[in-house]
Amino acid sequence: MENNKKEMVVSAIENGTVIDHIPTNVVYKVISLLDLENYNDEVLIGNNLQSQKLGHKGIVKIKNKFFERDEINKIALVAPTATLIVIRNYEVVEKFTAEIPDMVEGIIKCMNPKCITNAETIRTKFRILDRQNLKMQCHYCEKFVTKETMNFI
Ligand code: CTP
Ligand code: ZN
Repeated sequence: MENNKKEMVVSAIENGTVIDHIPTNVVYKVISLLDLENYNDEVLIGNNLQSQKLGHKGIVKIKNKFFERDEINKIALVAPTATLIVIRNYEVVEKFTAEIPDMVEGIIKCMNPKCITNAETIRTKFRILDRQNLKMQCHYCEKFVTKETMNFI
């Protein structure tokens, strides 16, 4: 009964992309990173849904949208648990996870107050040094950021 109710909240889509297993606190961040505020077809959003893997999760279903890998990789840092599911004719045709790109642009703040990215409207840019521990280095001031010190814009 509970499950049936949950299914009804976010219904199946015919064609498009499902982003499942999103941590609940970053659902709206994922939406803005993928620029879905400006998407003109149906976007179904569910948040704080029960999940066996995560306890609670968010899910976003984007009708008739098929992302390029580069586009989808933007969400890897904020939602590493996310599963991307491609739907065609109501069937799951592909499942994958987002991969952290070599360069992370415009997603993380540089914590160095003297960094040019904090003084002017320049997009931040970090080089990934260690994917496991998310060690990154600012392209402009060379300050390091890690999983613990990372702050989203
Ligand atoms: N889905 C959808 N529309 C469809 C088919 C599937 O929105 N026409 C969604 C489902 O709601 C689910 C996701 O796509 O969130 C993956 O579908 P499926 O693999 O069938 O679900 P599960 O086996 O539960 O996946 P997992 O174990 O990865 O959670
Ligand atoms: Zn910097």
